Amino acid sequence: MNGSVRHLLGIEDLPARDIVQFLDTAEVFFGVSTRRVRKVPTLRGKTVINLFFEASTRTRTSFEIAGKRLSADVVNISVSTSSVSKGETLLDTVKNLEAMHPDVIVVRHSASGAPHFIARHTRAGVVNAGDGLHEHPTQALLDAFTIRRAKGHLADLVVTISGDIAHSRVARSNALLLTRLGAKVRVCAPRTLLPADMEQYGVEVYDSLGPAVEGADVVMMLRIQHERLTEALIPSTREYARTFGLNRAMLARAKPDAIVMHPGPMNRGVEIDADVADGPRSVILDQVEAGVAVRMAVLYLLAAEAGQSPLA
Ligand code: CP
Repeated sequence: MNGSVRHLLGIEDLPARDIVQFLDTAEVFFGVSTRRVRKVPTLRGKTVINLFFEASTRTRTSFEIAGKRLSADVVNISVSTSSVSKGETLLDTVKNLEAMHPDVIVVRHSASGAPHFIARHTRAGVVNAGDGLHEHPTQALLDAFTIRRAKGHLADLVVTISGDIAHSRVARSNALLLTRLGAKVRVCAPRTLLPADMEQYGVEVYDSLGPAVEGADVVMMLRIQHERLTEALIPSTREYARTFGLNRAMLARAKPDAIVMHPGPMNRGVEIDADVADGPRSVILDQVEAGVAVRMAVLYLLAAEAGQSPLA
């Protein structure tokens, strides 16, 4: 990489050695965020555009902070303040941004494949910050980084991912990444929220939370994506919380040193109880902290000059 990989569009086509390089590079950047001066000159003179067509708190903010900590010029564009709201097409938007010579375009879009389309029409590196139901590769990278820091390794860990699997790009990217690095992944959801093709990812499928959590090293909870549901797929939120919510009694079925994860945003009292989310086993805010280091690594590996060292 660092010249050899142009885009980060998904985990699907990313070999294990590239995943490990992203994670190892993020380790180099992790300490920058706790220095007195939280900035390195690595991407001075480079331009990063954050192009978000969907709402975001963590991803957008951490890409902005990551770019700024690398000394890049960072520009944020959201649909409500862009000419997309006046009817401009995605292609015209990209052509206009391309004319301003960005080095990296970070894009979140409700359509699966939008980042791939943009990558075909720009010389800039393109990072997928979440596309429809498809992938969220930097979330999977930061999740793997957080697990590796907590457990020391990923191979052979039992990772349970529970929630709205059918509509979750986070579940898809994590299943791809974690199995590629040797973890044993279980996915759990009501049958109505489980895609039929999930076994092709090399995961075990559960429709009951207790057996899915039994003996797990990592329990990752996902929210119901109400904005993507086209029909009623759960009887009620209350019923879902009772049968698929992670509370202390349910967490007791995991390993005693199991960690609890959530990519956010959380619906407290639905997929996760507040005392678990805020409890001693939770690494949810560690995930957010990791997000900055991982996104610094992604921007560095896509935009730095060949042979340039990470911190100079
Ligand atoms: N995890 C995640 O993608 O959060 P945001 O939607 O806030 O970016």
